[in-house]
Amino acid sequence: MQTIDTENFSAIVFFTGAGMSAESGVPTYRGKGGIWGSYSIDEYACQKAFERDPEKVLGFHEKRRRSVLDCEPHGGHRVIAGMPGVRVVTQNIDGMHQRAGSRDVIELHGSLWRLRCQKCGSRKEDYNESYESTRCDCGNWLRPDIIWFGDMLDAVVMNRASAVIASCDLFISVGTSGVVWPAAGFPDLAKQSGAYCIEINPEPSGASEYDRVIVGNAGEVLPELFSES
Ligand code: OAD
Repeated sequence: MQTIDTENFSAIVFFTGAGMSAESGVPTYRGKGGIWGSYSIDEYACQKAFERDPEKVLGFHEKRRRSVLDCEPHGGHRVIAGMPGVRVVTQNIDGMHQRAGSRDVIELHGSLWRLRCQKCGSRKEDYNESYESTRCDCGNWLRPDIIWFGDMLDAVVMNRASAVIASCDLFISVGTSGVVWPAAGFPDLAKQSGAYCIEINPEPSGASEYDRVIVGNAGEVLPELFSES
């Protein structure tokens, strides 16, 4: 495989989706074994569902936390974490990049490891297997601080991600179907801004923005693509 010399680029962004964590054992959302094939969005992944039955929705997310804790970051996560100065813009909520050691991670869709109160706005990090508490100090339910269907993305997070992507010169998309907006617009933003764009995916999206498409799994392709020889 033709390797990439990172010295030739001054601002590198990895844009990742569920496929990035697939080889760690975290299920993707779509396709075979995808979460949305087994769990209804209306029952588990929207504010209405939470208002109807908070315990059921929290239980589902607690189960997801437990299954993520059973998984470990793989070689692809570690390759990214080992590159100084790179930025990660992820749609994933699993925290795998951070567990591998990445520090500059923009989490577009929030985090499984944070809760927030809709009433008073407070946020609470919680890395335990089970939630330490599902009630805010103000008495209200705490909800997972993630983007559910129908939720707006945090404008500050979105602006940071857009700025980072608009100023990169190497954009590498890994493991995303590219169907969920506004994140689906990032490859185009990178391309319009003049970045060299690469896609890594066993089933590429077919998007026209990519200068190079590598058909393969993140955990195998990334260590090879960035190997020094
Ligand atoms: P999807 O489940 O839609 O797509 C996963 C992608 O990963 C597909 O394109 C697969 O071909 C690819 N893939 C599978 N295994 C891979 C591997 N080993 N290496 C590389 N790629 C692999 O996941 P996302 O695109 O991340 O949002 O989905 C976007 C958003 O939709 C998620 O953040 C989530 C979901 O609904 C919210 O929950 C708001």
